[in-house]
Amino acid sequence: IGIGDQAVKKVSSDILCVGDRQFRFDSIFDSKTSQEDIFQSVGVPLVKNALAGYNTSILSYGQSGSGKTYTMWGPPSAMFEEHSRESHKGIVPRIFQMLFSELEKEQRMSEGKQFNYQCRCCFLEIYNEQVGDLLDPTQRNLEMKDDSKNAMSLENLSEEYVTSYDDVTQILIKGLSSRKVGATTLNSKSSRSHIIFTLVIESWCKGTSTNGFSSSKSSRISLIDLAGQDRNKVDGAGRQCLRETKSVKKSLSQLGHLVGALTKETCSGKEVSNRNSCLTRLLHESLGGNAKLSVICSIYPDIKNNGETLRTLRFGQRVRSIRNEPVINEIKEDDVNDLSDQIRQLKEELIRAKADVRSSDGNKKGYLHVQNVRESLNNLRVSLNCSLLIPNIDNDTDDECGRGGHRGITPAD
Ligand SMILES: Nc1ncnc2c1ncn2[C@@H]1O[C@H](COP(=O)(O)OP(=O)(O)OP(=O)(O)O)[C@@H](O)[C@H]1O
Ligand SMILES: [Mg+2]
Repeated sequence: IGIGDQAVKKVSSDILCVGDRQFRFDSIFDSKTSQEDIFQSVGVPLVKNALAGYNTSILSYGQSGSGKTYTMWGPPSAMFEEHSRESHKGIVPRIFQMLFSELEKEQRMSEGKQFNYQCRCCFLEIYNEQVGDLLDPTQRNLEMKDDSKNAMSLENLSEEYVTSYDDVTQILIKGLSSRKVGATTLNSKSSRSHIIFTLVIESWCKGTSTNGFSSSKSSRISLIDLAGQDRNKVDGAGRQCLRETKSVKKSLSQLGHLVGALTKETCSGKEVSNRNSCLTRLLHESLGGNAKLSVICSIYPDIKNNGETLRTLRFGQRVRSIRNEPVINEIKEDDVNDLSDQIRQLKEELIRAKADVRSSDGNKKGYLHVQNVRESLNNLRVSLNCSLLIPNIDNDTDDECGRGGHRGITPAD
């Protein structure tokens, strides 16, 4: 949307002025910017970081009708290759087009190294403070637990395995078509819910050592499109509409508080604020956590929207000063050897404990011993703090021990 109005001026490649106030950003895009330009600036580095093993996020923020949804997804028809509207394709489908092309390239080039990967994704919406599954309309109110810090940690949220760009587009189109949409004064098809699409890439490289393992990486891509906030009065708004508007307003204001608390570097503020709403809790990793975050702030620079424009620019300014702590989520051969030793010891303990139980014939002490070993094993899994792809340690088919052995340790957060 054009910056034709005198209220907002782009004075240099990174400075925007509203009246006498200046705002600095990493990049400023105007009406001449194409979807491809935004992808090159924000999407390409995201894909490179995700492949390197970092968690990455994009948050699309701004006033209703300013172009958040358009920038993120573009029109669904534009997701199809060689479609006449392909140039409108949003940053998200472009990201997955590049991601799968890079993964396939790496696999072709790996030859002896045997590079392998697996991707799975989920798509949720937050509507009236309830988390719904966009891929399973029967799940409208998923339970948020204390440790629900990102979408992937929600129980009963569907997960789909995807192997190509086409797989992802089908899921995006299905999810977007289920999203709640309604009219605001500024947008006849306004998004009435916040949505988060998450894709996890797990990859591993086989080495030449005896256990055939070299390294394993796991990274999450989280793409967040917020609901539109419209402070103007909507004529004839029903009760449902009023409830929607109130919960959008409340969750966006909680988001503003969280950002404020994070910029003040007070840990207590951090903890209190992100518990307040489903949105802030699910953004725990993206805001102030283990992720590289890009925020796209969209404005609708019309003189009558000056208040909203200033609010958006101030949010962008504040969020820019948050310091996240991204790390490469990689497990190397040495780590695996240590963990393999620990798992082997625990397995031995478990076998001994089981033997104790049998010999004590129902003796409670033996049962407790097994419980303790189980707990230790679970603690070990939790302490890994990321999704792991560990090779089989041996051919033990024991139920208790085999489960975490191959590639199934669930993420701890
Ligand atoms: N850069 C653009 N080029 C062409 N059309 C655009 C552009 N940005 C937005 N639009 C169009 O403007 C309208 C509003 O955009 P969009 O729905 O993306 O806004 P939004 O910020 O998501 O609003 P809401 O917060 O209400 O959901 C849509 O019809 C969209 O196609
Ligand atoms: Mg929208």
